[in-house]
Amino acid sequence: MAMAVQVFLGGLACIFSTSLLFQLLVGPCREGVFFCSQSSTKGPSTAIVSERYRTAYHLQPPKNWINDPCGPMYYNGIYHEFYQYNPDGSFNPNTSYNIVWGHSVSTDLVNWITLEPAIEPDTPNDIKGCWSGSATIVSGDQPVIIYTGVIDIEKHQVQNIALPKNRSDPYLREWTKAGNNPVIQSGVPGLNSGQFRDPTTGWIGPDGLWRIAVGAQLNGYGAALLYKSEDFLNWTRVDHPLYSSNASIMLECLDFFAVLPGSNNGLDMSSAIPNGAKHVLKMGLNFGEDVYVIGVYDLKRDVFVPDTDDSRLWPRIDYGNFYASKTFFDSKHGRRIIWAWTTETDSSSDDVAKGWAGIHSFPRTIWLDSDSKRLLQWPVEEIESLRGNEINHQGLDLKMGDLFEIEGADTLQADIEIDFELTSIDDADPFDPSWLFDAEKHCREADASVHGSIGPFGLVILASDDTEEHTVVHFRVYKSQKNYMILMCSDLRRSSLTPGLDTPTYGGFFEFDLEKERKISLRTLIDRSAVESFGGGGRVCIMARVYPVSLVDDNRQPHMYAFNNGSATVRVPQLRAWSMRRAQVSV
Ligand SMILES: *[C@@H]1O[C@H](CO)[C@@H](O)[C@H](O)[C@H]1NC(C)=O
Ligand SMILES: *[C@@H]1O[C@H](CO)[C@@H](O)[C@H](O)[C@H]1NC(C)=O
Ligand SMILES: *[C@@H]1O[C@H](CO)[C@@H](O)[C@H](O)[C@H]1NC(C)=O
Ligand SMILES: *[C@@H]1O[C@H](CO)[C@@H](O)[C@H](O)[C@H]1NC(C)=O
Ligand SMILES: *[C@@H]1O[C@H](CO)[C@@H](O)[C@H](O)[C@H]1NC(C)=O
Repeated sequence: MAMAVQVFLGGLACIFSTSLLFQLLVGPCREGVFFCSQSSTKGPSTAIVSERYRTAYHLQPPKNWINDPCGPMYYNGIYHEFYQYNPDGSFNPNTSYNIVWGHSVSTDLVNWITLEPAIEPDTPNDIKGCWSGSATIVSGDQPVIIYTGVIDIEKHQVQNIALPKNRSDPYLREWTKAGNNPVIQSGVPGLNSGQFRDPTTGWIGPDGLWRIAVGAQLNGYGAALLYKSEDFLNWTRVDHPLYSSNASIMLECLDFFAVLPGSNNGLDMSSAIPNGAKHVLKMGLNFGEDVYVIGVYDLKRDVFVPDTDDSRLWPRIDYGNFYASKTFFDSKHGRRIIWAWTTETDSSSDDVAKGWAGIHSFPRTIWLDSDSKRLLQWPVEEIESLRGNEINHQGLDLKMGDLFEIEGADTLQADIEIDFELTSIDDADPFDPSWLFDAEKHCREADASVHGSIGPFGLVILASDDTEEHTVVHFRVYKSQKNYMILMCSDLRRSSLTPGLDTPTYGGFFEFDLEKERKISLRTLIDRSAVESFGGGGRVCIMARVYPVSLVDDNRQPHMYAFNNGSATVRVPQLRAWSMRRAQVSV
């Protein structure tokens, strides 16, 4: 459960940009706590309440509020996605309106059938909410869910097990709670039992025992508590955490998995991990930042040892509106898949009027780059089944100030792949390493209208006829001491004329061997109010929500352009754009 906790907001305000802070506040604001000036002062903006903003191929149920992805798995030919779901409406529930596990199934990760909720609060071990958790397939054919139960109004948390009632039911519609719940209780010295949640998928250690990690606050800092079991039901705490850190007072929505450098084959954590694999610990920091650390799982000591402890340099899974992400091993295609919760960025009253709030990012394959420094992500290839008519341009030269209109595709639902080839890179402006600590600030200051030597160049999308409204996704190239550093930005500040929306400028840097590669790729999925971008082959990903006024009018199609505002001419060897069909996401 991604829980935004009011008490720490004062501190957060100092740490984060206002955009992230707003994102964090979306939770508590809906519970009606203090510090909600930004969204509670504005009334419902009727322009936002339009079906035209509802996404066409991102997962969401037919109505109501959703948040974290929970327990994703592939079992007997079916993909299961569960999610935190409010059956009572499109607002963030609290201990009066308890959250349940919504359930959707698919055979292709594109089209989804919504089922009845799988797990609901109906025992003393989860009576105030069934919060996030994971699924593990034990002994090859027994799916097991482990989830956090909230037991009282003070939000004390325990961990529970649920099992499918009938494993022959292809959809696994009904789930039974284990008789020995809760299988894990807090009762650890120094553990805050109100910050103890989101158990990971299980993995097997060299001793043949199952392990899971549970996010916690231990003695005031963040910890991934480690538990062991022979049968997945009887759990014993290991006397030290898998990992702990002062980077956050709590680690939530943990995910732990192994990856092989340079290979996009996923690894199954229920089997022995091959030599040469690295491990990744994904952590939700400060109730709003999904970061990951690459490191080594020291089997002797049973601890995770990160390659770097400097939390300021931990990369984000996605630099945009993307939190509580979760991965799973897809045994059908031998890959690891990740997705996350993406919030609305309008007001809670708009969400109540719309009748829905929250989507999941499009499922992405995730793997480790060959230098072991960065995870790469790419939309699962099944998305291509939605591609309709294709626009293709080759050999475009974009000189400084050029704006090339991409016409002929549906600009509301599109998949765009564009390569930017740099003819000369010697003139790149110098890189200042201090920028790494605040890429968003750098994106705001050096925006698409500020000319550089190489860049900004990229896409202008969802633009109104007069371009008053538009969203920009762009790159800038810098020369660092050893290599090239690329800044990718997704600038939403002019994405909508509707006042009162959260319209941040997201950004992230990645290191790139431009001398070898010469080309920087950008892929952007436009899905009405969702703009999901993948830079440099998926080295930096940015998910965003936008609500352009020009989109509400049925008769107008927004415009889409490639542009360059840098001194160096940028060549586009290939630009392809497809209109995207509507998926069956909430049947
Ligand atoms: C829970 O949310 C509802 C709807 O926003 C609100 O009316 C109620 O007062 C809240 N209850 C608590 C305990 O915060
Ligand atoms: C289990 O599911 C299968 C397939 O839907 C069905 O044929 C069978 O009757 C079910 N068993 C029980 C005990 O409900
Ligand atoms: C649970 O596991 C522990 C440690 O392996 C063992 O000592 C204990 O007997 C087990 N309890 C049950 C009920 O199986
Ligand atoms: C947190 O910081 C304190 C003070 O520097 C230190 O004693 C403690 O070991 C740190 N904890 C972790 C988990 O890094
Ligand atoms: C490019 O720069 C010009 C001049 O600063 C500016 O008017 C234009 O809006 C910029 N293009 C984009 C896409 O921001």
